[in-house]
Amino acid sequence: MKLIEPIRLGALTLPNRLVMAPMTRNRAHDTLPGPSMAVYYAQRAAAGLIVSEGAQIAPMGQGYPNTPGLHSDAQLAAWRQVTQAVHAAGGRIFAQLWHVGRISHPDVLGGATPVAPSAIRPAGQVYTTSGLQPFVTPRALTTDEVAEVVGQFRQAAVNARAAGFDGVEIHGANGYLIDQFIQSSTNTRTDRYGGSLENRLRFLREVVEAVSDAWSPDVVGVRLSPGGTFNDMADDDSAATFTAAARLLSGYDLAYLHVVQADLGDGLTALRLTRDAYDGTLIAAGGYDRATGEEAVQAGEADLIGYARLFLSNPDLPERFATGAPLNAWDTDTFYGGGEAGYIDYPALDRTDAWLGAAAA
Ligand code: PHB
Repeated sequence: MKLIEPIRLGALTLPNRLVMAPMTRNRAHDTLPGPSMAVYYAQRAAAGLIVSEGAQIAPMGQGYPNTPGLHSDAQLAAWRQVTQAVHAAGGRIFAQLWHVGRISHPDVLGGATPVAPSAIRPAGQVYTTSGLQPFVTPRALTTDEVAEVVGQFRQAAVNARAAGFDGVEIHGANGYLIDQFIQSSTNTRTDRYGGSLENRLRFLREVVEAVSDAWSPDVVGVRLSPGGTFNDMADDDSAATFTAAARLLSGYDLAYLHVVQADLGDGLTALRLTRDAYDGTLIAAGGYDRATGEEAVQAGEADLIGYARLFLSNPDLPERFATGAPLNAWDTDTFYGGGEAGYIDYPALDRTDAWLGAAAA
């Protein structure tokens, strides 16, 4: 298998194995996708699959300013412009369903306290509408409230379908709400959502079942970050925890599992662990370039490769990989927030004028 080769992914056939990985860009208008977002994703429609930036499933699921929501009629109408633009350009796009849990602040929650599995404050600071602020101690969700959040994930899948997405990716990675339930350092609950490993995985299981039931398992992916420490995360036994998570997900005939690569020590990586434990299509992401991505696919370590910063700066990344063309460098200063600079002005090969034309249309 090669990177530039088609693959079946659930209900879809993709022209190549390059996935545009989900990236927070903080360019929604408040929580509404705008016209430049449609241009941004449509410019990248040559990806085998686009996974959208995280879209909060409910107001309490928001962690940062200007991230898009997927819970109101106005947001769905705005997303429809994005999915239509991607489809018109020949692409496919999944919505990433996001609840940040404790990685938030009252400043972006209308004064409310962030919610989490347990009242454990993350170390560090979070970027808010009033700049960097220390994290606050979150409020532990009641058992009944956990069921409500599962229902919000279900509704978000219904909404994504109505907004014209081709599927959804459940964000279970990087220290956000689902990961907070999974990993032992952030879950000290004593109800059925905490304590044993099986209980820590129950929220993930219920979200996967609700979302699959609301739409169809073959248009549902899940993203996990085994051994991930981003957002002040830790687990007593990462290998055991995420092996169990990957095995659990094997039972649902999902479109894919998307893994953020990490080193778990003792020669074990997040990718190796999930390849062994997960029986299905695997996307690997995290620092891959053309050579290492090609190598991983050809060696059968992963079926597809997620590219984040390279897709951000190269809208026509598959063509550049196929032809060996040089790559645009990314500008870290314009990753988060701002306007069209560093968003829709990265040039495609020999097509700078065409893309600028699309932006102006
Ligand atoms: C980020 O905004 O830096 C961010 C958001 C979501 C992730 C990871 C990082 O999953």
